[in-house]
Amino acid sequence: MNTKLAKVRSPEDEAIEEAAGIIRQGGLAAFPTETVYGLGANGLDPEAARKIYAAKGRPSDNPLILHISCMEELYPLVREVPEKARLLAERFWPGPLTMIFKKSEIVPDTVTGGLDTVAVRMPSHPVAAKLIELSGVPIAAPSANLSGRPSTTSASHVIEDMNGRIDMILDGGDVEIGIESTIVDTTEEIPIILRPGHISIERIKETVGETVIDPAVVIFESGKENAHKDDKDLKPRAPGMKYRHYAPKGELVLVTGTPEHVKAYIENACSKAGKEGRKAAVIASEETKGQYSCDNIFSLGSMYDEASLEHELFRVLRKTDDIGAELIFAECFDRGASTQGLMNRLLKAAGQKVINADAASE
Ligand code: TXA
Ligand code: MG
Repeated sequence: MNTKLAKVRSPEDEAIEEAAGIIRQGGLAAFPTETVYGLGANGLDPEAARKIYAAKGRPSDNPLILHISCMEELYPLVREVPEKARLLAERFWPGPLTMIFKKSEIVPDTVTGGLDTVAVRMPSHPVAAKLIELSGVPIAAPSANLSGRPSTTSASHVIEDMNGRIDMILDGGDVEIGIESTIVDTTEEIPIILRPGHISIERIKETVGETVIDPAVVIFESGKENAHKDDKDLKPRAPGMKYRHYAPKGELVLVTGTPEHVKAYIENACSKAGKEGRKAAVIASEETKGQYSCDNIFSLGSMYDEASLEHELFRVLRKTDDIGAELIFAECFDRGASTQGLMNRLLKAAGQKVINADAASE
């Protein structure tokens, strides 16, 4: 298949109409959103949804998010809109929030992986909004990466993973946020976070009060770094959260502990890797990158700037692939609720391999 690539710089660009035509006819078009690039298809067409799973190599029990461009498009897809969902939509839509509803008859089982619920999001990116509007259908769109790889935050990543597998790629430049939306299940009285994201649980609580995190979600808790690792009994409510994800090709480990111990551990480990002829890389912050003598140091930005850390994470994971890093040591960027989404992605990318440098130095 020949994949057409088109730059879009404004929602008026004709390429968006072309992509909308592809989606109406049952094809696949990748497009920018404010979180990550999406791989879009007609969300009401089971055949089109099947093509998404095939293009990504994605397990078919992992359901897709339907993307809408206005509230009117929500009602036909769901059985009800609970009051708390209405409040969350009012505050966060359009934007990086996905909500789970009880699904209506018109949503195909292929999209929901057989669940009786459906995930819906209204993206704020003007190209995404225009594409959905012109398509005239809700757009089913997972992140536009091969299953298991880091999500795509620029068109060049989408080309890397999807060239030859889909009909078209709309290149809208770099995305703004860089990690996927926060997912909240609003079908229960107390909302449940199924995937932490850019919108923190604190902000959800401000809007709807008590909110919990699905216990199967990987979150970073100091001192309990590997808490979920062997807990095979916990079944995440978002099926996608059970898969290994976002992973670079090299072996990534997260190093925690006091700054001195982290530095010493990583320096040591890199020099050991060098002696063994293995290429190592370090993922650090602007503040700490200067302290390493390793050749391959990637900064995610200031450790105090969550937006920058989120923006850079997947890009840097892909860069470690580009240089062929075999071993990757990441510092810990945990600062509580505001970094929960970031730390979830980092832990999953590391397959939850965490080293406590304090213990290692004893
Ligand atoms: O930011 C985002 O959400 C991006 C952009 C493209 O919008 N999309 C995205 O889609 O991250 P994807 O397919 O990579 O992740 C969707 C997640 C999966 O973990 C899936 O299991 C969960 O949403 N999900 C979808 N439908 C669900 C449902 N009915 N119940 C529970 N979880 C659901
Ligand atoms: Mg994904």
